Amino acid sequence: MSFSLIAAIGKNNELGKRGGLCFNIPGDLKFFKETTMGYPIFMGFNTWKSLPKKLPGREHFVLTYEPKDLPEDINAVTDFKKFVEENLNSKQKIFVIGGGSVYQQMLPFCDELFLTEVQASDSEADTFFPVLDKSEWDRKIIGKGQDNGLDYVHVLYTRK
Ligand SMILES: NC(=O)c1ccc[n+]([C@@H]2O[C@H](COP(=O)([O-])OP(=O)(O)OC[C@H]3O[C@@H](n4cnc5c(N)ncnc54)[C@H](OP(=O)(O)O)[C@@H]3O)[C@@H](O)[C@H]2O)c1
Repeated sequence: MSFSLIAAIGKNNELGKRGGLCFNIPGDLKFFKETTMGYPIFMGFNTWKSLPKKLPGREHFVLTYEPKDLPEDINAVTDFKKFVEENLNSKQKIFVIGGGSVYQQMLPFCDELFLTEVQASDSEADTFFPVLDKSEWDRKIIGKGQDNGLDYVHVLYTRK
């Protein structure tokens, strides 16, 4: 296994709006940090832009057609196919952390998905997680919580 994916989604697969997140859930940010800590993380340029700063303890790979304005310690990835081929069978797990376009392109190459399923919707969302074919995945609830009045469950999907 080399690619794992992590995302927080609403009832209608909402991921983001206006370049940011739909839901403010500190407990989920903690889960994200604990789950991804120590692993390389792979993201699209828009998601990189949305981060307040480089996330400590994780090597960053940022997908962009044209590397620009990236700090020296961030790895730019311009050739998606080459990146996937080079890492698909590696022993090192890489976390795919978004956003919508990168989840869409990477889903076929991921063996496990950590999805935080938020029991809320956001009519202003403009970015969505792809619809999963549930017959392809085993679903296991691995945690749950409530934050800012939002109920959520952490779900681990493993490819059958
Ligand atoms: N809920 C969650 O868990 C979660 C997680 C992450 C992000 N988000 C949200 O998702 C939204 C961002 O998602 P997004 O879909 O707009 O953007 P994104 O996937 O983060 O980044 C898109 C950018 O990645 C680059 N890119 C994509 N495919 C490429 C390819 N095949 N080759 C080279 N470069 C490629 C392009 O960058 P260039 O334009 O630089 O070429 C493209 O504009 C934000 O609202 C963010 O807050 C939510």
